[in-house]
Amino acid sequence: MRHIFLLTFLLIAFGCQQEVLTESAPSDLLPEVRGLLADSAMVVSAHPLASEAGLNILQKGGNAVDAAVAVQFALAVVFPVAGNIGGGGFMIYRDTSGESYALDFREKAPQAATETMYQNEAGEVLNNKSRRGHLAVGIPGSVAGMAEAHRKYGALPFNELLQPAIRLAEKGFVLTRLEAEGLQNAQSYLNEVNTIPPDFFVNDNWEPGDTIFLPELATTLRRIADTEGKDFYEGQTARLLVEEMKRGQGIVTLDDLANYRAVWRDPVKIEYKGQTLLSMPPPSSGGIVLGEILNMVAPHPLEDYAPYDVRTIHLLTEAERRAYADRAKHMGDSDFYPVPKGDLLSPTYALSRMQNFDSARASSSKSIGPGLSPPQESEQTTHFSIVDKDGRAVSVTTTLNGGYGSGVVVSGAGFLLNNEMDDFSIKPGVPNMYGLIGGTANAIEPGKRMLSSMTPTIVEKNGKLRMVLGTPGGSTIITSVLQVFLRVSEHGMSMQQAVNSPRFHHQWLPDIIKAEEGAFDEETVKRLQEMGHKIETTESIGRVDAILITDDGTLEGGADPRGDDTAKGY
Ligand code: DON
Repeated sequence: MRHIFLLTFLLIAFGCQQEVLTESAPSDLLPEVRGLLADSAMVVSAHPLASEAGLNILQKGGNAVDAAVAVQFALAVVFPVAGNIGGGGFMIYRDTSGESYALDFREKAPQAATETMYQNEAGEVLNNKSRRGHLAVGIPGSVAGMAEAHRKYGALPFNELLQPAIRLAEKGFVLTRLEAEGLQNAQSYLNEVNTIPPDFFVNDNWEPGDTIFLPELATTLRRIADTEGKDFYEGQTARLLVEEMKRGQGIVTLDDLANYRAVWRDPVKIEYKGQTLLSMPPPSSGGIVLGEILNMVAPHPLEDYAPYDVRTIHLLTEAERRAYADRAKHMGDSDFYPVPKGDLLSPTYALSRMQNFDSARASSSKSIGPGLSPPQESEQTTHFSIVDKDGRAVSVTTTLNGGYGSGVVVSGAGFLLNNEMDDFSIKPGVPNMYGLIGGTANAIEPGKRMLSSMTPTIVEKNGKLRMVLGTPGGSTIITSVLQVFLRVSEHGMSMQQAVNSPRFHHQWLPDIIKAEEGAFDEETVKRLQEMGHKIETTESIGRVDAILITDDGTLEGGADPRGDDTAKGY
């Protein structure tokens, strides 16, 4: 209730704010808001029913990893646009002793994939094939990821963690306005790519308040629950998935599924002014790009600038430009390509990269190529943040890639498959659906993971848990995480305020600052343009779901008002 009140207040305040922007930066007028406060434990996710599923597990004595498993499967039911069992993602986990771990359950290219599979004989790019339908599908990792996280760190039985999702799929759940609109808009897409219509999603007129039932998915989830995930890779679900592939000329095989493994990796550790950020290493670019940007801005007195001061916007933009240029050249799956992680993350490199930074002028992306010489030899995703009563923290970002992924529903199994193959560089220099380009480092190879921007992050301060955060948003994920982190740590915002406040983004190419409505006032836009920046307004950037642990140990949720995102805690 309190939460709803605060959000309403904020939205009203924002409405007024548009009228009075004259001399002050928007940040000066941001209302003081606080998200849900809790003493012991909290879940913040994209959907109230998924947050509730996680909370119930925590209250039953489950730990943060148990709750994460419950939330991931619940999202696969109630948030079909991005929640998934047919996609993949990443988890950062920090245990009670402060040890941290990164789990990679990113999709992989099938064995039959080739570097030029999305080009015709003339070398022209076939975007449709990498973005929709059966050929766009990477080998899904989400079920393996949840099973692996649970095997190592779970406390309650796996089967029990899937019960909320099974119940929701079987008994039905009510569509929110956003979901009804999403499903309605997806109708022609779903019809186009499916050889057998997925009856439970097909409807001429989805309306908010409609109840949707997913009985096939309930049966699939039961099989997964009973086999601790094995059925998805070696059992009936695997067979149904491969039959679906065959019907639509997809290339994922039973062997691809049987050979899929989630992999534990070392989190990227970024030191920033007394705080340590733990984030995702390759095959996500998230941790390295975030680290590069923070290293580039660290020498500047950001704490003395307001969050929408021209100096802040200019500095972040210039750092982002340089880090995303490096992403395009140097980043890919480190199991296949020698990503120069140490060099890219070194503060000395950041200094050299910012040597040509001019505080009065925008540089042009054309003149800022990637740094370092090449190594020798060589709107939909979702995030949830969880803290349990003992202080374990889990940060998970997971995706089908585009909204409803490839649009392909596995007939007889009731779930959507990803279109993650589009995250590869399908041809050097050709942008993917987020406008990101790449080359050899992120070229398609059988068994390789496509480069991601997902940035599930945990922050420590003085050796203690400080924040859990992350977001969807394709290429804008990294800069959204960056801004929320900086707004709390440099500009003194509460977590909810930082999550609510308008965001902006630059990714080297295209050479444009994208800004949410209300982020910059007219004077700021004018000054940025005079410095040489190009600015475009965009409807919405990201949906950050985060938790701040305040100095007195209280948990403060930051649930993004841009979506149905909800914090629940006790
Ligand atoms: O892994 C990635 O970077 C993308 N597939 C994420 C997609 C995404 O965030 C879409 N959300 N709006």
